[in-house]
Amino acid sequence: MAVSYKKLGLVNTVEMFKKAVKGGYAIPAFNFNNMEQLQAIISACAEKRSPVILQVSSGARKYANQTLLRYMAEGAVAYAKELGWENPQICLHLDHGADFEICKSCCDMGFSSVMIDGSSLPFDENIALTKKVVEYAHQFDVTVEGELGVLAGVEDDVVAEKSDYTQPKDVIEFVSRTGVDSLAISIGTSHGANKFRPEQCTRNENGILIPPALRFDILKEIETKLPGFPIVLHGSSSVPQEYVAQINHFGGALKDAVGIPEEQLRKATKSAVCKINIDSDGRLAMTAAIRKVLVEKPAEFDPRKYLGPARDELKKMYMHKCEDVLGSAGKA
Ligand code: G3H
Ligand code: 13P
Ligand code: ZN
Repeated sequence: MAVSYKKLGLVNTVEMFKKAVKGGYAIPAFNFNNMEQLQAIISACAEKRSPVILQVSSGARKYANQTLLRYMAEGAVAYAKELGWENPQICLHLDHGADFEICKSCCDMGFSSVMIDGSSLPFDENIALTKKVVEYAHQFDVTVEGELGVLAGVEDDVVAEKSDYTQPKDVIEFVSRTGVDSLAISIGTSHGANKFRPEQCTRNENGILIPPALRFDILKEIETKLPGFPIVLHGSSSVPQEYVAQINHFGGALKDAVGIPEEQLRKATKSAVCKINIDSDGRLAMTAAIRKVLVEKPAEFDPRKYLGPARDELKKMYMHKCEDVLGSAGKA
């Protein structure tokens, strides 16, 4: 039986984005796959009073079971209230929905927002698919994110320099023909912990890779064409070098990991960018904490003894994002 997100105490992105665009900050969109990540996100956002988008990818649905994730999101609202957050602003969002069916299924099971990712399709096919999802989702006040332009990603062997930046000339037609509520764009961010190849970067005096700047010129052109329209940045982890170093110190093998510098994200929040996606930084924080415990206490075998510290580190990292990078603290 279909259930509305409204019954679960969740919200869609309409008000969140309106306030964020006006206020010059961005809503954090954090991915979750398990209880510890969800606890960390909710306790961080409750403490910081930050609106938040909980993102579920297709991979997360397969890993954790979509029904369980939905109930966890419902539980997250109750947990937030228990923590003293009277009016939690929590959105449950499908990340990178690949087809109409997955978007429909999420709308029907209590998600308040979905992304239909038709970015790899030809322009007209992307429009047709996105429009179909919008028509279905809007019947239930579920908001829809579309995407134009292709982000580079390590997984498909596409490198960042070959990413297909969003073409500003296309955005008005895409938004008006589809009716989407927000638009993900490609201006140089990319998924994962290796966002750029070393030869695309410079190095600082400590040998740390410094990535090329985001294409703020493209962002500006898009904003001029769509004044006040909510823009989304995917692939926006900063890949904190202290986590990379900790992982490698305790036996890991991350090479040339590099992310988007925080000051560039801060700058983006002052524009129409009102949703910033962060997944990899959570993976790094968790892995760094777990590796440390397992190496320093080899006799430990109670998962709570390494997942607990991982959760603490995650919470610290999420609070930092809300307070110091996205500016979303105190906005809910
Ligand atoms: O954009 C991708 C997200 O980081 C989700 O990744 O598909 O491995 O869950 P995943
Ligand atoms: P990161 O890999 O940079 O965390 O990006 C996550 C993302 O865009 C999820 O959709
Ligand atoms: Zn993404």
